[in-house]
Amino acid sequence: MPLPAKAPETEGGAGALPRHVAIIMDGNGRWAKQRFLPRIAGHRAGVEAVRRVTRAARTLGIEALTLYAFSSENWRRPDEEIGDLMGLLRIFIRSDLDEMVRENVRLRVIGNYHRFSADIVAMVDDALARTLVNDGPILVIALNYGSHAELAAAARDLAQQAIDGKIDVSAIDEAAIERQLDTSDLPPLDLMIRTSGEHRLSNFLLWQAAYAELHFAETLWPDFDEAALAEAVASFGRRQRRFGGL
Ligand code: IPE
Ligand code: IPE
Ligand code: MG
Repeated sequence: MPLPAKAPETEGGAGALPRHVAIIMDGNGRWAKQRFLPRIAGHRAGVEAVRRVTRAARTLGIEALTLYAFSSENWRRPDEEIGDLMGLLRIFIRSDLDEMVRENVRLRVIGNYHRFSADIVAMVDDALARTLVNDGPILVIALNYGSHAELAAAARDLAQQAIDGKIDVSAIDEAAIERQLDTSDLPPLDLMIRTSGEHRLSNFLLWQAAYAELHFAETLWPDFDEAALAEAVASFGRRQRRFGGL
């Protein structure tokens, strides 16, 4: 049976540049622990790394950068830490939105951020609105994101459309599911990076990562910098992607 044509992911090799890079920013807590500091100090340093790395991604010419900032499982953390993370999110939007607007960055959010407190939802909505007309590099922040929840929501939406007679059940194919995902308007995911030496995806972009190249760095997220990103991108450029073919 011939397979349907897939979205044209970036070919690897020959120094190819990934169009879409996702990062699981992990290791803030361990970074703080190594310094006998409270975990919040690690998260604060993590925000600095976000600034560095988003700038570096723009300089490298990466079209879309997706950052895992808060997972749907991170609600399991103590209330105090969740509060600290929310506080940092407020500070980040307040301090960095002007630069994003100026730098023509298109901000996107994936995940169910409406579960956050009302003031954060309002801040995020304002940030999205202010960067909507931009047409430069895309910065995607994953907030209360989990792949399983995203796929369950896609299944619910498609089932409802079928019940309402808007689509035929036979029209529910891979492309139809992809259109329901939070990432439907983003380039295909080329490269997934995880810092801090952990080798798992932790419910991040499971569908989208089907053929992404994976890069695991030992570096703790607060220490991740321009050179570390460049190294991950260079490693992508040396890979040969086959997508099941030869
Ligand atoms: C990642 O760092 C940041 C978030 C999950 C928000 P961690 O807080 O998971 O740091 P470690 O894994 O405990 O070192
Ligand atoms: C993944 O890191 C989530 C984010 C980076 C936001 P975690 O630290 O939450 O993942 P696990 O619990 O080690 O799998
Ligand atoms: Mg962690």
